[in-house]
Amino acid sequence: MVPTISRIVQALEPSATMAMAAKARELKAAGRTVYDLSLGEPDFVTPQHICQAAVEAMEAGHTHYTPASGIPELKKAVAEQYRAAHHLEYAPEQVVISNGAKHALHNVFTVLLDPGDEVIIPAPYWVSYAELVKLTGAVPVVVQTRQEDDFKLTPGQLRGAVTERTKILLLCSPSNPTGSMYSPDELGALADVAIEHDLLVVADEIYERLVYEGHRFASFATVRPGLQERTILVNGVSKTYAMTGWRIGWTLSPANVAKAMGSLQSQQTSNPSSIGQYAALAAITGPQACVDVMLAEFARRREFVTRRIAEIPGFSCAEIGGAFYAFINIREHLGRSYNGVQIDGSSQWCLQLLDQQNVATVMGSAFGTEGYARVSFATSMENLEAAFGLIEEFVAGG
Ligand SMILES: Cc1ncc(COP(=O)(O)O)c(C=O)c1O
Repeated sequence: MVPTISRIVQALEPSATMAMAAKARELKAAGRTVYDLSLGEPDFVTPQHICQAAVEAMEAGHTHYTPASGIPELKKAVAEQYRAAHHLEYAPEQVVISNGAKHALHNVFTVLLDPGDEVIIPAPYWVSYAELVKLTGAVPVVVQTRQEDDFKLTPGQLRGAVTERTKILLLCSPSNPTGSMYSPDELGALADVAIEHDLLVVADEIYERLVYEGHRFASFATVRPGLQERTILVNGVSKTYAMTGWRIGWTLSPANVAKAMGSLQSQQTSNPSSIGQYAALAAITGPQACVDVMLAEFARRREFVTRRIAEIPGFSCAEIGGAFYAFINIREHLGRSYNGVQIDGSSQWCLQLLDQQNVATVMGSAFGTEGYARVSFATSMENLEAAFGLIEEFVAGG
């Protein structure tokens, strides 16, 4: 017999970013030189002092189960970090440590959503949000933002999307995939609507530390008094410390939400890796110069990518305030043929770019917005220079 997959999982879209990266890997294995701008992970190695802390944790015998929601030292350090950086008061019990921010988001949706509840997700959105919401039986309500608004949701758009079933507004700033950032005032205006309609807000702040000159990060919970009671903050070490493989992320939330997520995790995954947690503790309590070094390199690449996008006819993107992505408007280049292949959508465009020029990017449609392609500049300057040369050639030819 062929086992039947549950309806809810059958409806799941596999992660397009991971699919593109897998395709790029396949071509590389077949001997092609591929310029991979598809993946959202820093290309730096995890800083030495963090790796050393992991070794020491193993040697000290921290190789067993920990409390399901994380070691007290790390929870305390996370709460302390938010106090120092944002003047927010959280008790360690309000912090839940999970297997990466993706798992943290899954926990949040699982403990808060019932079938039929609605979650407002501004598009373009990070690939996993809508799918994680659907896993709970709740409904993602996608609101298209505009490039002329730097892909930021406006209070009017939010108001227009709210129904009596709306439970959560999801925000990601700095944004994957657009790199755009909400100013504190813009977040404040959205918070007013959230308060007016009694919404919870899930604020994904994973790119908080990767913010470029001229931009200021404000944690959502700080932009109006009393927001902590309706806000769930999501964060982690993956992007800031080049620790994607360690799988440590967390939430700061109202105490009852944290308690529910702790219970869920105790039955579902138990604790995230004990060694990863000690490494994360070293990351957030240890020297921070490594973050500045990585940020300076990202800033150099951001400048390059912004310039190259402006140089290529028909291309444009929103101001990149943070993170390491550019979301390129390719609309002018759709609806024509490239070396004899007719290309009408972003998916075909990205696949042909990979096939014809060996450059991997991700189609805008995977982020809920057609007519765009996302490039990640979490790769070397050398790769970026070569890749943009090939992209330029691609759009010029055909
Ligand atoms: C916006 C956003 N949130 C969450 C995550 C997940 O991070 P983690 O590796 O901690 O699961 C990512 C990773 O790509 C992301 O871009």
